[in-house]
Amino acid sequence: MATVNRQITLAARPVGFPKVSDFHLIYSPLPSPAAGEALVRSVYLSLDPYMRGRMSDAKSYARPVAIGEVMPGGAVGCVVESRAPELLAGDTVEGMLGWQEYAVTQGHGLRKIDAGLAPISTALGVLGMPGLTAFFGLLDVCDPQPGETVVVSGAAGAVGMVVGQIAKLRGCRVVGVAGSDAKIAWLLEELGFDAALNYKAAEDFDGKLRELCPDGIDIYFDNVGGVITDAVVRLLNARARISVCGQISQYNLEKPEVGPRWLGQLIVKQAKVQGFLVSGYAARFPEALERLATWLKQGKLKYREDVAQGIEAAPQAFIGMLQGKNQGKQLVQLSEP
Ligand SMILES: NC(=O)c1ccc[n+]([C@@H]2O[C@H](COP(=O)([O-])OP(=O)(O)OC[C@H]3O[C@@H](n4cnc5c(N)ncnc54)[C@H](OP(=O)(O)O)[C@@H]3O)[C@@H](O)[C@H]2O)c1
Repeated sequence: MATVNRQITLAARPVGFPKVSDFHLIYSPLPSPAAGEALVRSVYLSLDPYMRGRMSDAKSYARPVAIGEVMPGGAVGCVVESRAPELLAGDTVEGMLGWQEYAVTQGHGLRKIDAGLAPISTALGVLGMPGLTAFFGLLDVCDPQPGETVVVSGAAGAVGMVVGQIAKLRGCRVVGVAGSDAKIAWLLEELGFDAALNYKAAEDFDGKLRELCPDGIDIYFDNVGGVITDAVVRLLNARARISVCGQISQYNLEKPEVGPRWLGQLIVKQAKVQGFLVSGYAARFPEALERLATWLKQGKLKYREDVAQGIEAAPQAFIGMLQGKNQGKQLVQLSEP
């Protein structure tokens, strides 16, 4: 076994887009588990947009990471040594293990993963937090009905790819918005979206979206906010529902963006807008994971992963994900399963 634990810490609070120099790679001695603890070797690390918020010291729902602290993050890995009664060496577990190759844990918040069910990386994607976010943010917040038009932004990312496919399973007409022609082709040809639009290439985005939604929009799953959301709101139907999942277009702005003030549209359309946090549904995770796993086994849910290699690649992969370089779920592989 290794004697060194490589970790990524926060070196500086980013101004605007994070830079590689905002992170620091450090070498620490491999920790040993005390009584009641276990040592986990991480196999895959998840990179998620919420981490950008944790790098900032602005007040939010989660505490900021301190300068010099290991970056927080979900990971899936193998227990290599255990002094905790509920964990055995060889168990595969998923939890907040951080941007590091090894983690000592007391087991709180860890989920045991059935490595025979699906590749273990899916515990961070389609069968993990992003899949659960899609499931509850669409089904619980929006209650989609057959024949309704659903628009999802950030459609080719970890959450968006699942939202669109669940909406199709519910019999909806699904329109995805994403940032490259390759992503659009994948949504249409492999994931079964009915229409998709590259917001970076469309000269008249509002007009193109209107063409793709001839019957208006009943449901909007918002991963991005900003000008894409402004365009969607103008096309809402009466009694539309908006699930505000994320606002990634705003996360790296140095000054808040001032956009059209469209709340009046919600009156006219009698629309419902609801923000949500996936953590609010924790009590219902088992039920949702069972449904997602069944769809996956039946081939009704497809997924894609973008996997960077080695802990040293995590900062650049994270910045790339914020810029849209990922297609599907962004992961970093830290060791062999
Ligand atoms: N509410 C919750 O509990 C919860 C839980 C998980 C995630 N979220 C939110 O859900 C959203 C998606 O998360 P994810 O993990 O699935 O990430 P992701 O979609 O896999 O990756 C982020 C994507 O955002 C897109 N993006 C970046 N800047 C953008 C911009 N200015 N305008 C439009 N799109 C932009 C990029 O795709 P393009 O190439 O398409 O630009 C990029 O690939 C995020 O906003 C995240 O904060 C919320």
